[in-house]
Formats: sequence, C-alpha cells, structure tokens
Amino acid sequence: MCGIVGYAGGKNSSDILISGLKNLEYRGYDSAGIAVFIDGYVTTIKSQGRIANLEEKIAECKPAESHVGIGHTRWATHGAPSDRNSHPHSYGKITVVHNGIIENYSLLKSELIDEGEEFASDTDSEVIAHLINKYYDGDPVDAIYTALARLRGSYALGILFEGIDDKLFAVRRESPLIVGIGEGENFIASDIPAVLSHTRNYYLLETNELAIIESGSITLLGADRQPIEKDVFVATWDVAAAQKDGYPHYMLKEINEQPKALTETIVPRLAGGIENIFKEEMPDVSGIEQLHIVACGSAMHAGMVGKHAIERFAKIPVSVEVASEFRYRNLIFRKGDAVVLISQSGETADTLAALRIAKAHGLPTIAIVNVVGSSIAREADIVLYTWAGPEIAVATTKAYTCQVAVLLLLALRMANDRNTADSATLEQCRQSLTELPAVVASLLENTDSIEKLAQEYKDNENLFFIGRGVDSALCWEASIKLKEISYIHSEAYAAGELKHGTISLIEEGRPVVAIASDDNLIEKTVSNVKEVKARGAKVILLCREGHDIESGVYDDIIEIPNVDSFIRPVAAIVPLQLFAYHISCKRGLDVDKPRNLAKSVTVE
Ligand code: BG6
Repeated sequence: MCGIVGYAGGKNSSDILISGLKNLEYRGYDSAGIAVFIDGYVTTIKSQGRIANLEEKIAECKPAESHVGIGHTRWATHGAPSDRNSHPHSYGKITVVHNGIIENYSLLKSELIDEGEEFASDTDSEVIAHLINKYYDGDPVDAIYTALARLRGSYALGILFEGIDDKLFAVRRESPLIVGIGEGENFIASDIPAVLSHTRNYYLLETNELAIIESGSITLLGADRQPIEKDVFVATWDVAAAQKDGYPHYMLKEINEQPKALTETIVPRLAGGIENIFKEEMPDVSGIEQLHIVACGSAMHAGMVGKHAIERFAKIPVSVEVASEFRYRNLIFRKGDAVVLISQSGETADTLAALRIAKAHGLPTIAIVNVVGSSIAREADIVLYTWAGPEIAVATTKAYTCQVAVLLLLALRMANDRNTADSATLEQCRQSLTELPAVVASLLENTDSIEKLAQEYKDNENLFFIGRGVDSALCWEASIKLKEISYIHSEAYAAGELKHGTISLIEEGRPVVAIASDDNLIEKTVSNVKEVKARGAKVILLCREGHDIESGVYDDIIEIPNVDSFIRPVAAIVPLQLFAYHISCKRGLDVDKPRNLAKSVTVE
C-alpha cells in the first residue's frame, strides 16, 4: 500500500506534506513526492527512495512557499521503484497521488495511447491523471466522477487541477482516506498519524464520496454528487503514541508497550466477570457452532494460537486460513458457522474481501481490529477491538499479542456460555489473563540473554522453528518475525512432521529453535530436538522455568516463567520477538521499514 497526504491552509504546504508523509512512511517507502501550487502552477518534486531523499531534493530546488498541495510515499505495485514511477503523476492540467490498484489500467492506457497520449511511467496510477484530464472541460467534479466511472480497482486519490490553485480534491474506493478538519487549514491523509499533530478531528470518506478541500472549508459530495453531511470522528491517539518516545525503533517501543496494550485490551473486558466478556458487542454467542478465522500474516498466526484455546475450552471446531486463499475457495458453510476476521490495520484488502464474501454467504462476521473506524471494523457485524494503540513498525508485535488476548477472552466467554468448562477452570484462566501484562513486563525487564543469543545466531542464513500444538502456531509467528526484519530464511515446521522430509535439510550447525512451552508436549518435542541434534543441528530450546530437560539436549535455552498454560503462548512469543529484533539490528538493517514490505497491504 502507499500513503497519501494533502494540505490547504496558511502554512507552507511543502513542510506540512513532508511531515505528514514521514508519519505515513510505514505504509510504503520505495519513493516519495509532492506537488504544490506555486504562482498558480503545479510544481512537482519526487524521488526514488526514502522521504529523506525527497527532502534533499526539495532543499536543492528551494521551491517558493505554497499553501495547497498533495504528497505520496510509495509501496510499488506496478512499475519498479524509480524517479519516473514515483508519485505524484501529472498529465495535462491534472496531478494525482494514488493509493490502491487500478485493475483495468492496461486497457485504459492502450485506449489513451491510441488517442495520442504519451505516458511517462510504468504505473497504473498515471492512467488516472490522463483519464481525468480527458474529461476535464472546466468542471473538476464532473471530470473526476466521469473518470472514476471507468476505473476498476481500488483508490484513494489526492487531485490538483491546474488553474484551481486554492483547492485540492480527494476521493476513495476501498483504500482508506480521511479528511482532517483544522482551524483555517484542512488535510487529507491515508491514516490518522499524518494529521495528528495538527488536528484530532476528521471525516472518514466512504466509497465514491468526494471532498473538496480549501483552507477555510471542506465540501463533501456523495456518490450522487449531492452535498452530504458526515459525522466528525475524534482521534483518541496522542502524538507521542505515534512517535518513538526515545526508543531506537518503533518495533522496540511497541514490544515494550505490550504490558500496557494488553492491560487496555484485557482489563476492561474482565471487569464484569467472564459472563460479560464482549457482552455489549456479542449479547448472544449460543448460535455459534464453528468459527472460521481468516486473516493475513501475523494476524493469521494469532488466529492459529486462538484456535487452540477456543477448541480446548469452548469445544467448538475452529479453522484458520489465510484470507488470500479463503476468498478463492469453493466455500461450504453450515448453520452455526461464523467468520472471524483479524486485522491490525482493518484495511488489508484480502481480509476485507474475505469479510465481504462471508457476508455475501449470510454468515455472522466478527472482526478483531486495532484501528477504530477502519474499513473492516465498519463492515463487520461485530467488532472486538484490540486497544494496542498505533502500531507503526511494519513487523507487528503488540497488536499480535493483543489479538491473541482477544481470542483468549472469546474462548472464556464462549466456554462459559456453552458450559463447556467448569467454573474453577474458567476462574483460573481468568486470573491468569489478569496477570498476563505483568508476566510480559517481567520478560522485558532483562533481555540481555536474548541479545546475546541474537549476537550468536545473527550470521546464519537458514534457520528452523519447530514445535507441536500451540507451539507450532508460535513457530509461524516467530519465523515471520525473523524473516521480515532480518532477511534470514527461516521455516516454521510442526516438530512431529520434520522427519517426513524436511529433516534432510538439517546439517552440521543448522540452527533450530525448538519451542516447547506446552508441558503436555515437551517430551515429544525434545525427542524431535534429539533427532535434529543427532544430525548436527544447533538447538535453542524455549521452555518454561523449572523444566527437567538435561542440558546436553540443547545448545542454548530461553526460559519463560512457569505461568498458566492459558497465557503461556503470549509469554513465549515475547523473547522470540526480541530475538528477531536484535538480529535485525546486529545485521544493520532497517528494523521498522524492512525492504519490500508495508505495514498493511491494501491491494490484492
Ligand atoms: C503485513 C504486515 O503486511 O500484513 C503484517 O507486515 C500483518 O505485520 C499483515 O500481520 C496483516 O495486516 P493486518 O493489518 O491485516 O493485520
């Protein structure tokens, strides 16, 4: 996905746009650019690479002060990261910035080339500028709507019309876009952090709603082009929450915010007792006989952990699937099925598409989301928010553990209502959940041993994570954490399955992290550890304190507190988050903005 911003007001728009883009850089950072009105003409400055490159270019160009403009930071979908493919894109009188994918751009581009138009880039987005220009005959609103009617795909657009230098135009379909409401200045942005230092008040544009932004006014038009009134949302995040607060990286800050995030996610839900967990959001869960959890990336991995708790205590079957597969399957549902969508951003295109498919099948949809008012939150029947606060690092940590916490809470509520666990068991689980933030805080007090392990293992290029049961689910999350920020190839494998093929890859010195937090399965996992040790592997064993594993079995050990098994998976992932973080740092990589990635992918 990409990040777009826009400004109309009394300040120098270049400065506002750059600072806004910096707060959106987690959405993509292949290239960046701005377009501003100077003396009535659009001046565009853009550059491949990070926003810092763009800032250098702006310093060289020394553009005059401007008061209306748009900006963009890119995660490349069509066309390699380069100066020519960076946004904004202009043609004729039109300049646009775009987040999304135009699925029919090739056809439109051919048509426009046949009409004699020349393209300057390989992007799908440039087509938008050409198309609006084609239909522009003095009425910007008509030109925009006419052009949009021909576009297929997703978009959040900021648009400038040469000759209308006191306005910018914004419209969206699927891709997120907010309109920031300031004092004598107004904004557009893909996400709240871009405007937070200027205003907390914003409109959430809906599909095909058009905003006309001026310094002193905002005009909102519906899909029918008629003026509309919209509710004003007030951002609850504070600026500091979206900054690093002295940490070297957002990821380390967010790892350390987990006790607070878990407290805010868990404690209010437990205040009324187990029978009232999510009572307001879900008055009645008795009709649910099976859950289908659908998500992407780490959100899906959280679902894998939640599956174990829900099946164990609520005694209903739970399937877990990646959204990009779910949406193309021949889905067969039965009465009593419900679909759970998990998404930090609430904007992931595959997960949003899965939500819509579930609704089209008439299934109840439950969303576990971190961003209030996001698309998935607004379209699901039920929303169970994680209260992790803004998560900026591309590699999720606090949102993941809060997603697991919400699933643990859901397991308790369903077990209680279905009467599938005795009250003593439920009370023990409830008590352990209330202790979870403190357990995580204790794990964060002294992380030197993890940093030492990272130093020892940082130069490996291939690494395995193995485990059984819920530990197998943790392997998936531990593995993606390492891959996405250290670029080390790692593979999560069910420990019991390794011997059926993949063990052939084990050779002298091959690092294997064996996650054995589950007491019921640790002996079996240790057997697998011995199998890989016998073939030369170098093993890090993760298990609880007070284990009785003889030291020759492993090379290194990560011990977690001997807490209730209900919350132990959350305790187990924290050192593995830090393991990945420190390895990435020691490999000199950009922890918060790893190559090729973006925080949330709002395109297919
Ligand atoms: C990826 C992120 O792009 O999308 C992951 O890097 C995330 O951290 C995944 O788990 C799903 O995103 P979301 O916002 O739907 O949870």
